Amino acid sequence: MSQIFGKPLVTQEAMRARIKDLGKQISLDYQGKDLLVVGVLKGAYVFFADLVRVIRLPIQIDFLIAKSHKAIGSPAKKVKVWSELTEKINNRHVLLVEDIVDSGVTAQFLVKNLMKKKPSSVAVCALISKPANRKVEVDLRYVGFEVPPTYLVGYGLDFKQKYRNLPYLAKLDPKLVQEDSQS
Ligand code: IMP
Ligand code: MG
Repeated sequence: MSQIFGKPLVTQEAMRARIKDLGKQISLDYQGKDLLVVGVLKGAYVFFADLVRVIRLPIQIDFLIAKSHKAIGSPAKKVKVWSELTEKINNRHVLLVEDIVDSGVTAQFLVKNLMKKKPSSVAVCALISKPANRKVEVDLRYVGFEVPPTYLVGYGLDFKQKYRNLPYLAKLDPKLVQEDSQS
């Protein structure tokens, strides 16, 4: 599979170093606080596993399954949440872990939904942000890497549900994305 994508956009070493920094910062910021770290599946599963292992606090973990899709006949994305949290978040600090924030629609939707349950705080940690594509405002407390608006796969990120298991982040051939958006 690696022959298809060539060189990684972010090497595994750079990724490990950046995630370690994020873990240190999160450990400092939430010291003495009751923190629930929530991974957004499927995309965040690889990043999530790496991140929680460099947070040096007695955190709890939970997951949400979310899917964003374009509504037929509309360019706007809709977000569908497939699962509920199993932990209570009332009066607790929540850190939402996202693979990538693109338009911001998914992250904004999830934060708004979580806020309804009256947590002490909700912050977002995204491995990747594409600020040039932002359509709605979303406050990202922690960002691994900011990238230009190109389509990425690997390290949890998919194209048509494939390539999530590629062990590094790579650019997908723009022709493939173009063909798909026209189909
Ligand atoms: P947003 O709602 O536009 O911010 O999009 C967030 C979701 O779209 C992410 O959680 C991903 O599932 C998907 N996504 C956005 N950009 C990419 C990409 O470059 N590669 C793979 N998935 C992406
Ligand atoms: Mg996805």
